[in-house]
Amino acid sequence: MLGNVVLVGFMGAGKSSVGRILAKRLGRCFVETDEMITANEGRAIPEIFAEKGEAHFRALEDEAVRLLGLKRGEVIATGGGLPCRDGRLEALRAIGTVVWLSGDFGALYERALRGGDRPMLSGKTREQAEALYEARKPFYAKADLAVDTTTLNPDQVAVEVMKELRIRTRPPHPTLSPSGGEGSSR
Ligand code: S3P
Repeated sequence: MLGNVVLVGFMGAGKSSVGRILAKRLGRCFVETDEMITANEGRAIPEIFAEKGEAHFRALEDEAVRLLGLKRGEVIATGGGLPCRDGRLEALRAIGTVVWLSGDFGALYERALRGGDRPMLSGKTREQAEALYEARKPFYAKADLAVDTTTLNPDQVAVEVMKELRIRTRPPHPTLSPSGGEGSSR
């Protein structure tokens, strides 16, 4: 039985869409940290940012990470900024196998702009958004494995993630038996 699967990555990486597909195919529950936060707060994320600011939102993410420790065998999609603090990726790896949905900045940015209201992009130029991605990459790169989503749709990404997970969870090769080794035919 696999542990939790935790998806991380920049806005527009497809964490929610891929997570939903993955959960369905693996027969798991799906949970999103952004959903946990909006359900608890009774407000949408842009409202939380507008009314209480980013620092408050990040504190709510702290609490969400604490609650994730209670999850077993679920597929978890995290908000794009959640892993980008010291110790966060390590905390997520303690919860499950962490998968970075990576990609070229241009592809992620286009998707993120199409995908609705994102306070971390509003009021930022493309260059500023790219600088944010570059600053976040070293955090994402600490994931257990990565799938490049640049040219893939969410279905294809889910297939790639499942392949990677099988590779990681495949039992080790049995050691070569002496009879299969050199000189065994003599
Ligand atoms: C954020 C990403 C959002 C959401 C919030 C902050 C970020 O999630 O958590 O708006 O800092 O990158 P998505 O990555 O799902 O857009």
